[in-house]
Amino acid sequence: MRLRNPLVLSLLSLAAGPTTPVQAQEQEQGFRTDVTTYDLIILQGTPGSISAAVAAAKQNKTSLILERTDHVGGLVTNGLGATDVATPALAGGFFKDFANRVRRYYVERYGEGSNQTRTCQGGLHFETQAAEAVLGDMLGEVGEWVTVLTGRQFDFSPENLTLSAGGEVIEAISVTNLLNGTSETYRGRFFIDASYEGDLIAAAGVPFLLGRESNTTYGEPGAGKTYKLWQGGECPGTTHQGDNKIQSYNYRLCLTSNASISTPFTMQPNSYNRSEFASLVSDVKSGLNNVASSQLTPEQLQSNIDRANANERPIPDIMPGIRRLTNNVAVPNGKVD
Ligand SMILES: *[C@@H]1O[C@H](CO)[C@@H](O)[C@H](O)[C@H]1NC(C)=O
Ligand SMILES: *[C@@H]1O[C@H](CO)[C@@H](O)[C@H](O)[C@H]1NC(C)=O
Ligand SMILES: *[C@@H]1O[C@H](CO)[C@@H](O)[C@H](O)[C@H]1NC(C)=O
Ligand SMILES: *[C@@H]1O[C@H](CO)[C@@H](O)[C@H](O)[C@H]1NC(C)=O
Ligand SMILES: *[C@@H]1O[C@H](CO)[C@@H](O)[C@H](O)[C@H]1NC(C)=O
Ligand SMILES: *[C@@H]1O[C@H](CO)[C@@H](O)[C@H](O)[C@H]1NC(C)=O
Ligand SMILES: *[C@@H]1O[C@H](CO)[C@@H](O)[C@H](O)[C@H]1NC(C)=O
Repeated sequence: MRLRNPLVLSLLSLAAGPTTPVQAQEQEQGFRTDVTTYDLIILQGTPGSISAAVAAAKQNKTSLILERTDHVGGLVTNGLGATDVATPALAGGFFKDFANRVRRYYVERYGEGSNQTRTCQGGLHFETQAAEAVLGDMLGEVGEWVTVLTGRQFDFSPENLTLSAGGEVIEAISVTNLLNGTSETYRGRFFIDASYEGDLIAAAGVPFLLGRESNTTYGEPGAGKTYKLWQGGECPGTTHQGDNKIQSYNYRLCLTSNASISTPFTMQPNSYNRSEFASLVSDVKSGLNNVASSQLTPEQLQSNIDRANANERPIPDIMPGIRRLTNNVAVPNGKVD
């Protein structure tokens, strides 16, 4: 595929001259007169997106964030409240600011010595609403420089991008306003694909690879099809060969059994089919769910089943099997991720 537009992923390349936060009304060939122009148009309101918009705002650049759902924040406001940071000393910039603010959120509400502040582990473990409040504050502080539009869906299709005459540069993006189904077009100087799926990158014709490489492609010993226990050895089925498989999706949820602070599940997607998921329970109990669970002895498996039924954590240090489905990590207020 021809490289039609190298997406600009670095804000350093934004020209220095400040633009006005009042969005320009442009009248040019091919554009509606009411199409607004932004310095930066960012697809999806993920943490990376907000980080980019805030950084651009500090250089007096306007951004438009187009988010498909009703919430910004991506993973961290959608249930991933237990952040894995193996090397905290390496955390800096926007992420460190975010974590410090999460900690402050708990200190302000519950006090420095509170259980909540301790459980938030310096801002790495949090409830979804804490993350959303913090990201909302960060966006609020840059005010009119950043416009966030939720319920805006970009569909992968080159027709939804307006290219320059030579086809080298993206000039505008069209999204569907999910509230009323209308098509909206926004014009930008630079575009960032901050989505988890990369649809803008694909629609722009940027070359990409799907799948995983073999261990020989780049000489990476752990690459390719690999089954491996956490901190353990490789398991049967490992070939280190490449294939076209992509990473599976997990559900990460913020849950509690405390009815007074919980929101009941009242809706399910129209396409939800319980039997597609419920079979996993018997597969885990029988040890069939994956290679890892067969590493458990029958006694360990039974013990973990009993513990799960009693709402207890699995046997310490027995990582495989049922624990992988019940790996509750505490976040504040008696909740778990
Ligand atoms: C942004 O604009 C403000 C006010 O117009 C100005 O004081 C500031 O120097 C500008 N910052 C940059 C990085 O251009
Ligand atoms: C995106 O492109 C497809 C295919 O041309 C078209 O059907 C759809 O209406 C476009 N979406 C918007 C928001 O214009
Ligand atoms: C769709 O909603 C937007 C606001 O979200 C509004 O500006 C636009 O006029 C609406 N279009 C129609 C056809 O109702
Ligand atoms: C790749 O994996 C295969 C199968 O495990 C192994 O025999 C081979 O030595 C590995 N090669 C490299 C370069 O790691
Ligand atoms: C449930 O949450 C309420 C409100 O925060 C709290 O007062 C109560 O102690 C909690 N109950 C349990 C069993 O943790
Ligand atoms: C639900 O999923 C099960 C198991 O995959 C399948 O047999 C059944 O046909 C599905 N039902 C519907 C309504 O799609
Ligand atoms: C403190 O928080 C932890 C984790 O959420 C919880 O297990 C524990 O019961 C809490 N203790 C008190 C005294 O609330």
